[in-house]
Amino acid sequence: MFEFLPVDWHDSLASTNTYLATALKEGPELPSGTVVAAREQHAGRGRQHRPWLTPPNQNLTFSFVWRETMPEQFVPAMAQALSVGIARFLQGYGLTPTIKWPNDLLVDGKKIGGILCERVNLSNSNQVAVVAGIGLNVNLDAATAAKIDQPATSILLETGHTGELPTVLDELLEALVAPLHAWSQRGFAGIRADYEAFGWKPGTAIRVRDGESYLSGNHGGYNEDGALVLKVDGGEKICYSGDIGLA
Ligand code: BTN
Repeated sequence: MFEFLPVDWHDSLASTNTYLATALKEGPELPSGTVVAAREQHAGRGRQHRPWLTPPNQNLTFSFVWRETMPEQFVPAMAQALSVGIARFLQGYGLTPTIKWPNDLLVDGKKIGGILCERVNLSNSNQVAVVAGIGLNVNLDAATAAKIDQPATSILLETGHTGELPTVLDELLEALVAPLHAWSQRGFAGIRADYEAFGWKPGTAIRVRDGESYLSGNHGGYNEDGALVLKVDGGEKICYSGDIGLA
């Protein structure tokens, strides 16, 4: 069974994802479950080539190594499994999170966390290797949140509770184990029920943006891999990447 190793904390890194991907490719064999966290990232990266900006010492920015033998077709739903774990964790704080496909964590329509999973090709290995990075707003304050280019919130802003980052991270890692296990055994099917419960309702009129292209239609649920089904005039479109918004 997959386990997280004790967290390797750094004061400052460019990006915990970049750090672990480089270490995996160039360094000695890093075991599955290796976790690296940074109190500050100066070149944090988000999905769709966006930057991930977060003030030093306020929020969680960490990554871990997933390196296991498993079916290739399960891989795309990894971030969705992690989003379920984070959503459950936030419920433990009395919050009501939603997951915006594919893996944005929102509370009351405001972003509280995000996930960036990146495949790493390891030569001479038939294992699936992924660096999974998570940013979670723990102690983000209102003044800083107001400067972010999209509505953002944090555990502090929602609950009034200030979290001690290493403690919050240890608790979060514990919450990630069960959905990771379910996903690693059955792919998206293993987490579908939870993911749907946290997700937007099928039938909702939405718009999907992928790079420069936009598509509008109705939310039609997810296919067997966790890809979004968009109901459009005369049929369905399967979306493997992008961002959704209300139409
Ligand atoms: C998103 O765009 O929502 C995904 C954000 C992922 C950010 C995390 S912070 C830790 C890890 N290191 C990075 O550079 N990015 C991820």
